[in-house]
Amino acid sequence: MGTKMISTRHLVKGEDLNHHGTLYAGRGVEWMVEAGFMTASAATESEDIVCMRINSLLFSKPVPKGQMVIFDSCICYAGRTSLTAYVKVSNSKTGDFIVDGFFTYVYTDENGRPKAHGIVIEPENDLEQQLYDEAKKIQADSKAEAKTYYLRKDLSK
Ligand SMILES: CC(C)(COP(=O)(O)OP(=O)(O)OC[C@H]1O[C@@H](n2cnc3c(N)ncnc32)[C@H](O)[C@@H]1OP(=O)(O)O)[C@@H](O)C(=O)NCCC(=O)NCCS
Repeated sequence: MGTKMISTRHLVKGEDLNHHGTLYAGRGVEWMVEAGFMTASAATESEDIVCMRINSLLFSKPVPKGQMVIFDSCICYAGRTSLTAYVKVSNSKTGDFIVDGFFTYVYTDENGRPKAHGIVIEPENDLEQQLYDEAKKIQADSKAEAKTYYLRKDLSK
């Protein structure tokens, strides 16, 4: 694969809850962005990385207070300056799958501009190939989709 899987955990505490008393989605996303950042940072051996894109997320199970969530993350696709991390979240107590997603980071220079990272990802098994193909498609679709954002901006004038 080129970069290794990193696993991190968070304990769901009072300040992480929504009004239903379960993990607040915004906190979950924050932890996912952090997990992806750690993998991108390990791959580039640098903290000069910014998160550019989060793809769609679907939360399939609530997580109650006091339980722990596991974040498994790996870099599954690399462009010239971008790296896409796959992040999977599960409940450490029940083993339930919570949510997964792809997060794109850009490696930057001292002026915050994109810089080539020189990383090449070569899938070594079916799962890695599947993640690679999916992330590659997301990157391509994302650039086309970005154009519709500009259309929306024009409509609001
Ligand atoms: C990330 C940032 C440096 C990229 O600069 P840019 O001039 O917009 O991007 P570029 O056109 O040079 O492309 C840089 C990379 O992003 C990719 N990219 C461009 N548009 C994209 C899109 N819509 N979706 C996904 N990736 C995209 C490019 O393909 C390129 O990757 P590659 O070299 O691997 O092919 C800049 O957009 C930025 O600073 N964004 C804010 C980041 C931030 O603050 N994040 C925290 C969020 S609050």
